[in-house]
Amino acid sequence: MIIAPSLLAANFGKFAKEARRIEKAKADWLHLDIMDGHFVPNISFGPEVVRVVRKETKLPLDVHLMCSRPEILLEPFVKAGADRLTIHIELGAEKVNSLIWKIRQLNVPIGLAINPPTAIAEVEPFLDRIDLLLVMTVNPGFGGQPFIHETLPKIQQVASWRKKRNLKYRIEVDGGITYETASECARCGADTFVSGTGLLKHLRLKSAVEKMRQIAATAHCADGITKGT
Ligand code: DX5
Ligand code: ZN
Repeated sequence: MIIAPSLLAANFGKFAKEARRIEKAKADWLHLDIMDGHFVPNISFGPEVVRVVRKETKLPLDVHLMCSRPEILLEPFVKAGADRLTIHIELGAEKVNSLIWKIRQLNVPIGLAINPPTAIAEVEPFLDRIDLLLVMTVNPGFGGQPFIHETLPKIQQVASWRKKRNLKYRIEVDGGITYETASECARCGADTFVSGTGLLKHLRLKSAVEKMRQIAATAHCADGITKGT
C-alpha cells in the first residue's frame, strides 16, 4: 500500500517544513496538485515550488497535473524533480496519446486520471501503456471535499481489467480519503491513497499514516471483487 499525503492541505507558507514533516511521518510518496485555473477553477503552484520541495525531501514526488496544456509543463516539472506525472483523460484521447508518448520520453512513470463524471470506458484503450490509474473520488480543484461513493464501481472495474489482462498499473484514489473511505477503496482494488485534509490534520502524522496503511492493507482486495462482497 502506498500512502501519499497531498501538499495541497499543508500550510502554503511552510511548504519546506511540511514536506519534511511528511517524510518524517514515513509516508511513501508526496502528492503535488498542479492546478492551472483553467482545467480546474483553482490555481495552486508550479515547477518552482516543486524545485523547492525537491530539496527538502527524498520522497518520490507524485505530480498530478490538472492542467489544460500539460504538454508545456512536462519537462519543467521533471527538471524540477517530479518522479512521476499524471495527466487527465478529459483532455481527449488524441491529446492523451501524444502526452503518454512525451512522458515516456522523459523516462518517468505515467499516470492517467479520470474525473467522477467521465465514463470509465474512456481509459480502457490506454491501460497497457500506463503505470498508474488515478480514480478521482471528488471533482478536482479543491481539497477538503466529501468523498463521492459513486466512484467505487470504477475502482472495481479497473481492478478487474488489471487482473483479466494481467497488467500491473497501480490504482490510486484521490479526494476525500479518510481511514474509512481508504478502506472502502482498498476493498474495491485501490492500492495507492492520496490524502490531504484527512491526514495532515493529525498532529501525530506518523501514526495517522501508519494507521491508514494498515487499514488499507487489511481491506485490500487486488481484483476488487472477492473479499467482503
Ligand atoms: C483535488 C486534489 C487532491 C486534494 C485532495 O483536486 O487532486 O489531491 O489534495 O484533498 P483531500 O484529501 O483534502 O480531499
Ligand atoms: Zn491530486
